Amino acid sequence: VAARTLQINSMSTEKWAIEGRFVNPSHTPGVLEYIENGLAIVENGKISSFAKTKSEINLLKLEIDASCPTVSLDQEYLIVPGFVDLHVHAPQYAFTGTATDLPLMEWLQNYTFPAERRMEDLEVATRLYNALVKRLLLNGTTSAVLFATIHLESSKVLVDICQKMGFRAFIGKVAMDQHGAENYEEETENSLRSTEDFILYCNQVMSDCHSSKPGLKKLIHPVITPRFIPTCSEELLHGLGELAKKYEEDGVYVQSHISESFDEVAFVKALHPDAAGDVEIFNKHGLLRHRCIMAHGVHLSDEDLHVMRETGSSLACCPLSNAFFAGKDLRLKRCIEEFGVRVGLGTDVAGGYSPSMLSSCRQSVVSAKIIGREETAEEVKATDVDFAFAFWTATLGGARALHLEDAIGSFEIGKEFDACIVSCKEGNFERFESEVILQKDFERFINLGDDRNIIKVYVQGQLVHDVAGAV
Ligand code: GUN
Ligand code: FE
Repeated sequence: VAARTLQINSMSTEKWAIEGRFVNPSHTPGVLEYIENGLAIVENGKISSFAKTKSEINLLKLEIDASCPTVSLDQEYLIVPGFVDLHVHAPQYAFTGTATDLPLMEWLQNYTFPAERRMEDLEVATRLYNALVKRLLLNGTTSAVLFATIHLESSKVLVDICQKMGFRAFIGKVAMDQHGAENYEEETENSLRSTEDFILYCNQVMSDCHSSKPGLKKLIHPVITPRFIPTCSEELLHGLGELAKKYEEDGVYVQSHISESFDEVAFVKALHPDAAGDVEIFNKHGLLRHRCIMAHGVHLSDEDLHVMRETGSSLACCPLSNAFFAGKDLRLKRCIEEFGVRVGLGTDVAGGYSPSMLSSCRQSVVSAKIIGREETAEEVKATDVDFAFAFWTATLGGARALHLEDAIGSFEIGKEFDACIVSCKEGNFERFESEVILQKDFERFINLGDDRNIIKVYVQGQLVHDVAGAV
């Protein structure tokens, strides 16, 4: 079947409807609502009505015009919220699927910094970033938190591509002024100046888009991006903290890596012998705050987790790259339920080799099972993650991590319609039960599904990826 990733030139403000089986993350972490018969009305990109039973549907249908375009889906399909990928390195897509043989610090020097340096060439960056955003969309990711590189101009290219494709993106120009590589490091002053220029550019792109369609909310958000503690001087961290304060009202985000691996923790200890660790250093510079997404956090202490919660900071759990670099995984469920930290999932392309959030979901389940094995029955219960918990974390968990739980991550009246239509007739899907069971179709999708099953993707009610002729 021909797959198309559509280029969005104008935003749609029309009213339309979608009817079928929905799987919807609830307000309780890990709990999903299975809706056999649902009907959502989408207006100006937002859900304006949502009927969840046959009788509610009949009533709602009386209200809507017969001419309202409706996507009607039978039992061969599922409607699910789009994935929120909290951690992706766009330039590293160049080597995704390879470079799986080195620990973090050597991996950065041997593969990552050389690959990122190539983004200086805008043509190379344009080709790669187009490919990445298409790949994320066709895997059902509707929002992503992205690292670009230290280059201002090619970071702007990434903004333009996300905007053009209608992708919801939180994008950072990387800041790093020490312990990088030859030709891949900035002067402190330049780093701060180009971070600010980048914030202003993103804000400009969004206000241009806003003035043409005032009803729609922002799709592109700038992110202040200190790479991680070892590559940032205290002066740089301080300056970035000042920028976070200056652009607080505009809703600027912050992202970095925190307490991610044994070699990273040891490096920070050597550079900052008097500090307790990453949390203390970031916090000192005002970088732990609302709208702050820190990747990994595998080596955070209980005390650190309290600070994360108190500051409203979030964690991007990247179970696949954690398996390669961290030596263990985050206790995802415990962080959410016991510590009240906002946690979502990330692919960490290309420290994690897969750009699919289905892969992150599966790995989070597998890693949690392995963590649990060494522990008491009680601890196993506290750490166990199943497919439903993983999916909740990959959608509404991510939305909460972005402090956007009122806008995305699940289907509710007033939220924006970011969604995927999943086909149960493609790829690895095989049903052997005599009856159709919604929960089992959904579990099969999480465990066996891939991009062949994701046939339509919507962001803000706008069709952004479409396998032509599938429905
Ligand atoms: N820590 C600092 N930079 C990186 C990176 O590019 N990927 C990962 N996984 N960890 C990092
Ligand atoms: Fe990373």
